[in-house]
Amino acid sequence: MNDLARAWDEAAEGYEAYFVPRFAPWVRTAADALAPLPDGPILVPCCGTLPELDALTEHFPGREITGIDLSAGMVRLAQARAAGNPLVTAVEGDAATLDPRWTGRCAAVVSVFGLQQLPEPDVALAAWAAALRPGGRLSVVYWPGAIETEGPFAVMREALRPRVTPSDRSWEDRLVPALSEVELERDEFVTHPMTHPDAETVFEAYTRSGPLRPLVTARGEQFAQELREEFLRLAPAGEWTHRPGARLLVARR
Ligand SMILES: C[S@@+](CC[C@H](N)C(=O)[O-])C[C@H]1O[C@@H](n2cnc3c(N)ncnc32)[C@H](O)[C@@H]1O
Repeated sequence: MNDLARAWDEAAEGYEAYFVPRFAPWVRTAADALAPLPDGPILVPCCGTLPELDALTEHFPGREITGIDLSAGMVRLAQARAAGNPLVTAVEGDAATLDPRWTGRCAAVVSVFGLQQLPEPDVALAAWAAALRPGGRLSVVYWPGAIETEGPFAVMREALRPRVTPSDRSWEDRLVPALSEVELERDEFVTHPMTHPDAETVFEAYTRSGPLRPLVTARGEQFAQELREEFLRLAPAGEWTHRPGARLLVARR
């Protein structure tokens, strides 16, 4: 857990600069799906730098908002984003198991691109649903196994295939059952275009400031170099636009 947190600490500033603007349409989709809400606080598990904040304060002014993230570096940037708003807090912690004080208390739980990183995503999803109060809503966006058939994510999967044992994605089939205590309102794929200046830039961002930082840190420079060569061999030249699809789950208690 510490290695994971450290890797995200090191990635935090680059993540904010490169991925936050590119992921913004999905963050907006997740926040837009929440209304209307009962009174009560909003919880943001795996908040990263808390890019959800603008959309949440726009839709739900005057709410208490709490972001939780494993990485101190991410939490620092989230706190900087929330500066001046005394209702917003960002805390360091494991979002997979929520403090019991949240149980049945939240108007909303919203999480973007964190779920697929957790060791048991279906168990975490059930815990997040248990935090909702009656009428409260859960909105979760995550990257599924079937994210795209072409584009940097697909090319990276191809480049990783001979080097890394594929992760077990059977938990994706257990997400809807994990929501049995709440009413599932939406389960759909949301695609938006994303553009990268070129393959080299997206590789650097992905491995230094994004989701592959923990892996590359653990496996070392030689691994990173070989992965880079293979990725660039498979990638197209020049500006690269793709349309990855994220899964959106919205449920109401
Ligand atoms: C891809 S970022 C997403 C951040 C933000 N929600 C966004 O949309 O940009 C994933 C975040 O999940 C955090 N994370 C990973 N495992 C976690 C855990 N067990 N508990 C809390 N946060 C975790 C990482 O530290 C990272 O900040």
